[in-house]
Order: sequence, then C-alpha cells, then structure tokens
Amino acid sequence: MKNISIYTGMMTLLIALSGNSASADDGCNLSLGAADNMQFSTKAMSAPASCENITVTLNHTGQFPKNAMGHNWVLTTEADFKGVAMDGGSAGLKNNYVKEGDSRVIAATAIIGGGESTSVTFSTGGMTAGTAYTFFCSFPGHWGIMKGTFTLS
Ligand code: CO
Repeated sequence: MKNISIYTGMMTLLIALSGNSASADDGCNLSLGAADNMQFSTKAMSAPASCENITVTLNHTGQFPKNAMGHNWVLTTEADFKGVAMDGGSAGLKNNYVKEGDSRVIAATAIIGGGESTSVTFSTGGMTAGTAYTFFCSFPGHWGIMKGTFTLS
C-alpha cells in the first residue's frame, strides 16, 4: 500500500509540473492576441501578486509577415516605456525591436508575424503590486496604439 501511495503522489507531481491547461489555473499564465489591425486584444492585463513567475503568450491572429505587421509584447514601467520603444526602433527587426541588454525591459517576447505565437516567462521580483506597468508592441509606429496596462494585484 505504501508503494501505491508514493506512486500516486509522483503522478500528481508530474501532472502539476507539466504546466498544461488541464492543471490548476493559478492565474500566472496569461495570453492575448494581436492582429493585422495593429491592436492588442486587451488594454489591461493583471495577475495575482502571489505569482513568482508569469508567462505571457502572444498569438498573432493576422496574416501579414513580421517585417510588415510584426508584433511583440514588451513590459516596462510607465516611465521607461517611451524610451524603450524609441531605442527599440533603432535596434531593428534582427533584435526584435528591443535594444540589446536594455535593463529597463522587464520582459519581452520575440517579434512574430501572422499565424505565429510566442511567449515569455519572467520573474515578478522587483515589481510592485498595485503599480500600473506598461505593456506594448515595440514595432516602429505600433507602440503609440498597441499598449496597455499590466498590474499585479
Ligand atoms: Co505590432
């Protein structure tokens, strides 16, 4: 009986570690879409402050390739947003429109095109609950519209 109990415990652990959608939803896995209309599917995102790590998945539901209508998901403080976006434009597509080694960037995905998905997992260490951070697409010309707030609550 003891062995069976250990086996059951191991299987529960493995299922928990697999991280698929069938496991318990702790609110630390978020997703959003973006299409050829240069819009994110949401303007406000939030996650529980209890999340040590957060994974954000971006789904590009449009048709255009990344060099024409590329999207990414970048997270910074509200104060850093414009500077990171401007420097990202100079960094070019090869750097996913994010300046290399930019310490102001809390999280950033790759730039993707229509039909593609990408995700980023980042630590919430150093972030403050209740503060409205800014998420945006750093593709040149997009960040004026493609932006929203991200809050740990
Ligand atoms: Co974009």
